[in-house]
Amino acid sequence: MTSAGARRVGDLAVGAVALGAMNLAGEGRPARAEAVRTIHAALEAGVRLIDVADVYGLHGGDAHHGEALVAEALASWPGEAWVATKGGVRRTARDPAAEDWVHQGDPAYLRRACEASLAALGVEAIDLYFLHAVDARVPIEESVGALAALRREGKVRRLGVSNVSAAELARARREAPIVAVQNEASPFVAPEPALLEACEAADLAFLAYAPLGGWRAGRIAHEAPLRRAADALGATPHEVALAWLLGTSPSLVAVAGATKPENARSSARAARLRLSAELRAALDAAYRPAEG
Ligand SMILES: NC(=O)c1ccc[n+]([C@@H]2O[C@H](COP(=O)([O-])OP(=O)(O)OC[C@H]3O[C@@H](n4cnc5c(N)ncnc54)[C@H](OP(=O)(O)O)[C@@H]3O)[C@@H](O)[C@H]2O)c1
Repeated sequence: MTSAGARRVGDLAVGAVALGAMNLAGEGRPARAEAVRTIHAALEAGVRLIDVADVYGLHGGDAHHGEALVAEALASWPGEAWVATKGGVRRTARDPAAEDWVHQGDPAYLRRACEASLAALGVEAIDLYFLHAVDARVPIEESVGALAALRREGKVRRLGVSNVSAAELARARREAPIVAVQNEASPFVAPEPALLEACEAADLAFLAYAPLGGWRAGRIAHEAPLRRAADALGATPHEVALAWLLGTSPSLVAVAGATKPENARSSARAARLRLSAELRAALDAAYRPAEG
């Protein structure tokens, strides 16, 4: 276990907390000006990595809305910041009740997706490009091989894989120089131990998505172990949750979503929050009992 601090994604020095832009672009999203204010609040608070995907937008269309929004916010940001985006998932159905997140990982599709992301972001090269998910119909070697070709052509600078197992990561790494994994991790969801160990051993970043629990994030405020630690530290339960999660691995970067500037600032503060060994042990016992 380690304390939260600066982290690396390949050669990039990023803060321990990145901003996730999914909810800034999807259903229930804030007005555009408020979304830009939220991104700027994160950057002003020290965040350097913004996570987005081509598919972050409204149901049944509106693809690339999130990328265009991030581009707009960065155009008026004078400092250094990097963008991670993803290809390999499409939304198709127009029926809001339908399960419409379709995995598509064939090389031709990934090339089209990447080129559309380049246009939406208005850049010549993407800082960090993820295979969003493995397509069960396409061997991961083929999907990652397509990403490696895009990297050789200078269209993407760094590669990552998302929603993978340790075994899939090992296969991907044989095809391309992967620098990051993006999988779910939070107090409520433990990452696959072998996957986290592989990231630590190979110096890959583990970008923890939905670090506050995603759709369960409202529960954080009511969790007794987090509330007790928050009271002791003069912090919020959400900040404690992120600080605790960051301490579970030196490879971990928390990709916290926010649609309000104050939440973006609060999550950024969590990178500097220190937990005593006693508080950490109590949280480990509550949220990772199997590892004790
Ligand atoms: N690779 C993938 O397949 C994948 C899948 C899912 C998500 N992601 C990435 O992960 C990011 C985060 O996921 P997520 O947004 O679903 O879940 P999350 O970060 O776990 O939780 C976001 C929720 O927590 C609230 N919140 C955030 N910071 C807070 C704070 N400091 N204090 C109080 N409340 C706070 C937000 O409120 P407000 O919105 O009101 O500010 C929102 O309701 C996404 O934006 C996306 O970039 C990736």
